[in-house]
Amino acid sequence: MCGIMGYVGHRGASERLLEGLRRLEYRGYDSAGLATLGSGHALHVRKQAGRIAELASDVAARPAGGSTGIAHTRWATHGAATRQNAHPHLGGNGVLALAHNGVIENFQPLKEHLQTAGFQFRSETDSEVIAHLVAEGLRAQQRELAGTPAADVYESLVRAVSGALSQLRGTYGVALVFRDWPELIIAARLGSPLVVGVGQGEHYLASDGAALAPFTDKIVYLADHQIAVVTPDRLRVVQRDGATVRHGVERLVAGQEDGGLDGYPHYMLKEICEQPRSLTNALRGRLNDDDATAVFGGLNLTPQQLRRVKRIILTACGTSWHAALVGEYLIEELARIPVEVEYASELRYRNPPLGEDTLLFAVTQSGETADTLAALREMKRKGLHTLAICNVVGSTISHEADGGIYLHAGPEIGVASTKAFTSQCAVLALLALYLGRLNDLSFARGTRIIEALRRLPEQVETALETDAQVRELAARYGSARNFLYLGRQINFPTALEGALKLKEISYLHAEGYPAAEMKHGPIALVDQDTPAVFLVPRDSVYDKVRSNIQEVRARGGPVIAVGTAGDRELPQLADDVILVPAVEDFLTPLVHVIPLQLLAYHIAVSRGCDVDKPRNLAKSVTVE
Ligand code: G6P
Repeated sequence: MCGIMGYVGHRGASERLLEGLRRLEYRGYDSAGLATLGSGHALHVRKQAGRIAELASDVAARPAGGSTGIAHTRWATHGAATRQNAHPHLGGNGVLALAHNGVIENFQPLKEHLQTAGFQFRSETDSEVIAHLVAEGLRAQQRELAGTPAADVYESLVRAVSGALSQLRGTYGVALVFRDWPELIIAARLGSPLVVGVGQGEHYLASDGAALAPFTDKIVYLADHQIAVVTPDRLRVVQRDGATVRHGVERLVAGQEDGGLDGYPHYMLKEICEQPRSLTNALRGRLNDDDATAVFGGLNLTPQQLRRVKRIILTACGTSWHAALVGEYLIEELARIPVEVEYASELRYRNPPLGEDTLLFAVTQSGETADTLAALREMKRKGLHTLAICNVVGSTISHEADGGIYLHAGPEIGVASTKAFTSQCAVLALLALYLGRLNDLSFARGTRIIEALRRLPEQVETALETDAQVRELAARYGSARNFLYLGRQINFPTALEGALKLKEISYLHAEGYPAAEMKHGPIALVDQDTPAVFLVPRDSVYDKVRSNIQEVRARGGPVIAVGTAGDRELPQLADDVILVPAVEDFLTPLVHVIPLQLLAYHIAVSRGCDVDKPRNLAKSVTVE
């Protein structure tokens, strides 16, 4: 979702801004822009609807000079994805330019007030009010500013910015440059991430640390309510009330940067194929054979405290929510602790009864999803110990949780999450094992689970060999308009995830359902043009799912079954069968999801869709 980039230094700003924007591209956006400051009190603003490549062509044709600037990728919320609505927005008559991530809920009354005060709006966005509010603050201080030494001017500018921010209700990450002070960026955040990169006589700003990887590995994470005053040689961080904050400089963890396509046509395919490795990394160092358990370094809870846990809430959005559903089965089965899975967007506004013995896990790839962050904060406020299962090291959720487990899956760039899902499931399986062994899971069962987890990366590698067959199925079924995905028990979430993958990247309608529940509605959709993808591992509900397949066949619906290698009965039942390796029941989602990821991918490619940047979607959803 929206990305911010900034540069203040001694080199050309626009090249660095464009490079940074390209690295934020994966988050999802529909327009882009930048503003640089040249000498002679001139702001150069370039904006384009569409891709960064179009903005880059514009800048090549009409260079935006200067060594200070801000840039933005916008994912439309208020107002269409047009050039006018793209950021940066000018404040007042062009005294400043602003880029904003987030949503301003009270923008309408603020806009009316500003219009009455004579400010002219050039866009339909909520963000533009911030630019004018700061300009209004500056106007009030105009007399003081004339002839004042630079350092004192900066204080006044910060006052104008904080005065504007204090009027806002909502979330923001903002970056501002000022026409008359060309070596300065002021940035601030509330609920929307921002980091400052420290260079030699230069500073960078970004909404995502990974975007700074080519420039510097020294990072300062801004916290909510902080304002950064950034010049080439100095970074000062203050609280919104003006108090100076001592900021720590952290190292950007290696391996978080985008490693490129590596010969693959799309990041999504690369990430699907990376899963044997990402799973190995999720398990590395976390299996303890001597005690038949898992090992975690960062839960920040003693075994005694964990033994007292009577209830677990898993909260998440999107694909991570599906992984959490898998986690529910795993934890209840292996650790016998009741689990609830809550959409973060719902949990944040609910008021469930909570006890001291309840533990909250936020499951999130990015660690930045606005709803997941808000749900975590709400539960923390209510006194719960909060933990994160997260991929991005240093993300806001990983900072704010009381402890957690990293996925170590490496950067996931494709908007449709694939390797993060399997890594989340693997980590949740480790967690279930660990909690189980603290309670009454036997040593022998623990050992079998460890052995099963160890075999997993290789089995996923084998499941990837279905690619050619899946591609052929995609060619045959790709013209269908509706798909059903059906599974039972722990593979009900797998069905949801398969359907979500197809929807996200191919724009086809797909529904995931518990295979037996289908009779209570979706069965009405079954006809010869609606393929049903069944998940049919050789598990405890195998015979039940076979009956559900019969129900679809009896109504003329084509059936694709994802089953277990060696299953001779399935080919007699289904039109097409994809076989993946046999694994323990509790790990079946991790291998059965592989052909579903590939099916969505190949159907989307055959339909000519932009697989890595599907329309309307964002990788990191930083607005509510
Ligand atoms: C967006 C992404 C999804 C992702 C969801 C939750 O919608 O497009 O792929 O599953 O956000 O993101 P998170 O980073 O919290 O896992």
